[in-house]
Amino acid sequence: MITIVGYGEMARALIEGLLQSGEEVEVIGRSEEKLQQIALLYPIQTRLLDGVDIQDKTLILAVKPHTLEEVAKKLQGEAALLISILAGVELDRLHIIKAHHYVRAMPNIAAAKKASMTTLTGDIEAKPKALEIFSHIGRTLWVESEKELDIATAIAGSGPAFLALVAEAIADGGVAAGLKREDAFTLTKGLFHSFSSLEDEHPALIKDKVMSPAGTTAAGYRALESEGVRSAFIEAILEAYQRTLKTN
Ligand SMILES: NC(=O)c1ccc[n+]([C@@H]2O[C@H](COP(=O)([O-])OP(=O)(O)OC[C@H]3O[C@@H](n4cnc5c(N)ncnc54)[C@H](OP(=O)(O)O)[C@@H]3O)[C@@H](O)[C@H]2O)c1
Repeated sequence: MITIVGYGEMARALIEGLLQSGEEVEVIGRSEEKLQQIALLYPIQTRLLDGVDIQDKTLILAVKPHTLEEVAKKLQGEAALLISILAGVELDRLHIIKAHHYVRAMPNIAAAKKASMTTLTGDIEAKPKALEIFSHIGRTLWVESEKELDIATAIAGSGPAFLALVAEAIADGGVAAGLKREDAFTLTKGLFHSFSSLEDEHPALIKDKVMSPAGTTAAGYRALESEGVRSAFIEAILEAYQRTLKTN
């Protein structure tokens, strides 16, 4: 049995993934009405947050980060494992809720499609259990420190927004050259699908295979380099990581 505190977007992704894997799920929330609504959608148990006993439970905290203290006051007992997905909330702060082991997990927007890239860190004893839980909403990576988790968040958490910019810009380029908007969009989606099938190849080798001497790819690649796109992406990851340090 896995207990999830919260019934928002991320909690629902976890509920679906866990139920599909055959796991029993319990959901804790502050609104009786919303608990009833979610119990109509999924075969789960529900409990009101106020004074709920978390003794020996495996608990996933999936509420808004600023509500940690308020939620903590309403929980009784000591959980076996507390996994928090609260963005920007460090492991130290989680100790406000009593638990035997603590883990931080950072899923991304694709969790709802079971395609999250989730990074986790925390008590090593809880690593297998935590990895297993998040494997039901996509891929997982365990890192050794919260610093690495913050860097990973810049890549896998903010990354979808960065790639969305790339997708939009490529489609706009097609339109600028004369393609219909709809066709440019279809081609860009197809491109991302094609590229994901090449994920096991090193990026530099993909580029070398496509680029022929004095060819079209070489011309486009030169334009990207002269516009500083490589450096812009490196800076984007660094900036996103630096921002996590300011919000922690
Ligand atoms: N969405 C993402 O892509 C993503 C990625 C990584 C991490 N996260 C983290 O996941 C957590 C949940 O995000 P989400 O996108 O699922 O948010 P969401 O859809 O807005 O859900 C927020 C949840 O928090 C509950 N909540 C808000 N205020 C509360 C309070 N004072 N007491 C008790 N419960 C309260 C809400 O319950 P009510 O409806 O009753 O207010 C709801 O269940 C956040 O901490 C976020 O940082 C999200």
